[in-house]
Amino acid sequence: MDKDIIIPITVKTDQELTSQEKLLIDKALEIAKGAYAPYSNFSVGAAVLLDNGEIITGSNQENAAYPSGTCAERTAIFYANAQYPNVPVVAIAIIAVTGGKVVESISPCGSCRQVLAEVSTRYRRPYTVIMGGREKHIIMKDNRLLLPLTFDADVLNDR
Ligand code: THU
Repeated sequence: MDKDIIIPITVKTDQELTSQEKLLIDKALEIAKGAYAPYSNFSVGAAVLLDNGEIITGSNQENAAYPSGTCAERTAIFYANAQYPNVPVVAIAIIAVTGGKVVESISPCGSCRQVLAEVSTRYRRPYTVIMGGREKHIIMKDNRLLLPLTFDADVLNDR
């Protein structure tokens, strides 16, 4: 039996963004400016909207021992989950800047996709991922689509 996995996305211009999407992208861009990225010169920002209305932001933090650094998404998600352990995530926006220019729609790395997936499993609630860009922004309504056939707690517990 063959099956297709279809991944719906919405591509928006600045003008098409909702005020909440725009706010999250703006917050992500603001925090990206303070990223510690002396090795890649690729500054990333993430803004996490929680169900209680709080917005938690984070940027990538690099290290001379390269693998010791971490991405913006994980900085923000882990901080949000540490500060508000029982509050589900509603949305995350990410954006990147390199060479003084906003990158055209950033896509989260594989490790971050795994971490983002854990959050929707944990709270039993999928959330929106906003991949901000220079001229176009990709909106994915369900974070689980970033990582189809995910290895998660349900697989681990054979549910
Ligand atoms: N990076 C992020 O922060 N998020 C992503 O989604 C992709 C990559 C960071 C890691 C590293 O500091 C730099 O960008 C270049 O890979």
